[in-house]
Amino acid sequence: MNVLGIETSCDETAAAVVVSGRKVLSSCIFSQVALHGPYGGVVPEIASRSHVQTLPRMIDQAVSEAGLDWDGLDAVAATFGPGLASSLLVGVGAARGLAQRLSLPLIAINHIEAHIYSVFLDDDGPELADVLPFIALVVSGGHTMLVRVEGLGQYSVLGRTVDDAAGEAFDKGANLMNMGYPGGPIIDRTAKTGNRNAIRFPRGGRLKASPMLGGMDPALCFSFSGLKTALLYHLRDNPLDGSESALADVTASYQEAIVGSLAQRCRIALQEDGVHALAAVGGVSLNGRLRERLAEVADRAGVRLMLSKPRYCADNAAMIAGLAGAGQGITGRSDLAMDIDPNMRLQDFAD
Ligand code: KG4
Ligand code: ZN
Repeated sequence: MNVLGIETSCDETAAAVVVSGRKVLSSCIFSQVALHGPYGGVVPEIASRSHVQTLPRMIDQAVSEAGLDWDGLDAVAATFGPGLASSLLVGVGAARGLAQRLSLPLIAINHIEAHIYSVFLDDDGPELADVLPFIALVVSGGHTMLVRVEGLGQYSVLGRTVDDAAGEAFDKGANLMNMGYPGGPIIDRTAKTGNRNAIRFPRGGRLKASPMLGGMDPALCFSFSGLKTALLYHLRDNPLDGSESALADVTASYQEAIVGSLAQRCRIALQEDGVHALAAVGGVSLNGRLRERLAEVADRAGVRLMLSKPRYCADNAAMIAGLAGAGQGITGRSDLAMDIDPNMRLQDFAD
């Protein structure tokens, strides 16, 4: 089963072909980072215009790099949510047109579920049956959550951020230090030579139980807004003087607070019954220090650590086509009439 996947939920325009949920024949990604950089964040209007311009080329490239022609495709899959409405519409519109033209099923995919699935891509990925149940840490520019995975389509969200996502904490921090956008990779690089214990930034503490948490365990929820404010005050009282080592120390300490908060909640989540593995997915899972800390946490808990390959961490269409090929469309049938859902939740369509 050759599935063409299309992903346009935010600022990556991506298309890919994956066979039977696993073997990636092509994965083409156009990153709009240079377009949004001057604004310090994603501008929805610019994102959707760029998707309209670039997506046809990505689709052509994905099909030809897969060595197929149009009649070699068996289904078309696209991200229907969550994401920016004006961006989602471009990918879903293109997918719907193609599916109709080629008389193929259109498979609607949840973006977060696809991120979780990304650890299983490629023939050398783990076997799903060997690692269930597992805990997934989803960390990107838009999402930060801990999910217990009993099987494909069987998820319970254990905790999530109550304010900023972990990627936003990196991006906003880098912005406060005038380091450029996106901040995650820049801070990751700069922090390498710094002392991570130079400054003690807050780690979000333990949140109080509140109706806002919707029944989730406060010990497994995240908060990053206080950290950002602490950085602001630190920079006000200790302005950066152009010294490279001072900048390295601040970034290393700031990164340690974000990573420490993520690792600590993973450690608690791994105490759940019968868990066999910890997965980390999304753009922030590229972070070197996070990978180091999660390896320690998994090791101590005696569970397997599953990290997406770097090419599947940030937004990509291989995870969309892969999940569709694994039989995980949202409705289990062709979704030609379904609408996008910018606020789609992981549990909305769980079994
Ligand atoms: O998954 P992704 O590409 O897009 C979303 O779905 O949001 O994640 C983008 C986020 C950005 O906030 C970026 O700063 C962060 O991932 N990121 C990193 C690293 N590489 C990307 N954060 C920390 N360390 C990195 N190496
Ligand atoms: Zn994403």
